[in-house]
Amino acid sequence: MTDHATSKIVLQVIHNRRSIREFLDKPVSNEVLTKILAAGFRAPFAAQLCSVIYTHSLEKMKEAGISAYPTAPVHMIFFIDFCRLEKIMAHRGYEYGYDDMMAIWLGIQDVVLMIENLTIAAESLGLGSVLYGLTPLKADSIAETFNVPKRVFPVVGMSIGYPDSAEETEIRPRFPLEMTAFKDEYLHHTDEDIKACMKKMDEGFLAQGYYIKSRTKVELVDKEDTIGFDKYSWSEHISRKFRSASRKGDPLIDVLRRHGFDLK
Ligand SMILES: Cc1cc2nc3c(=O)[nH]c(=O)nc-3n(C[C@H](O)[C@H](O)[C@H](O)COP(=O)(O)O)c2cc1C
Repeated sequence: MTDHATSKIVLQVIHNRRSIREFLDKPVSNEVLTKILAAGFRAPFAAQLCSVIYTHSLEKMKEAGISAYPTAPVHMIFFIDFCRLEKIMAHRGYEYGYDDMMAIWLGIQDVVLMIENLTIAAESLGLGSVLYGLTPLKADSIAETFNVPKRVFPVVGMSIGYPDSAEETEIRPRFPLEMTAFKDEYLHHTDEDIKACMKKMDEGFLAQGYYIKSRTKVELVDKEDTIGFDKYSWSEHISRKFRSASRKGDPLIDVLRRHGFDLK
């Protein structure tokens, strides 16, 4: 295969990726799983501050408090991992004393790079996946269920398997590239720019009927909801999610402290 043909296939895999939430009743072989995991760990890294636990058991995921996608044959939890590094340091006769905020930052970088590599490798082998983001708040039950030590902290979960083609999946919109990738200096978005971002996302999601089909809506607890599902769009959804009324304190910092991270 020519270099050109190879890069075309790589780009196709990247551009065709979409989250998969329904899976075939088809196991993922150990060989395929190993290939995917190994590709994950080929990602660039700061200090390999990452680990993954995979399981075929939906029950274990439930026990850990995670609503994994039930038809998937494999589930994964990705962790920031300082435990292993500190053992290496001890072998070298050094004591860990790095700033934990910075350390968490580096750990998240390593984890997300690994996930993306792994995701693309899985796609190239005909598998699909979906991530779930509330995993860090379940760190206590995850640690108990999966025997996870202190200083190893969950970042995100994933269900993975062979896509069920009966599920209607479409490639979801993204912001216009010029609104996110800037040459030489930052683009300070004008009202027109923001409207262009909203238009592309909202029209795209509405045309796909994403929220109406999945019956997904962030409820307004403090005021009347005047937006029906026919007009409920991406920018409405994301704004409702991130508004102050949706805030539930700062739960993550306490969870991180409970799991051995020294945050002021
Ligand atoms: C950190 C993170 C957390 C996510 N959490 C969830 C989730 O809890 N449930 C879910 O169905 N999808 C979840 N997703 C998937 C996103 O909804 C999805 O990536 C987004 O809608 C874009 O769609 P696409 O992946 O098909 O392009 C998550 C994605 C990321 C990156």
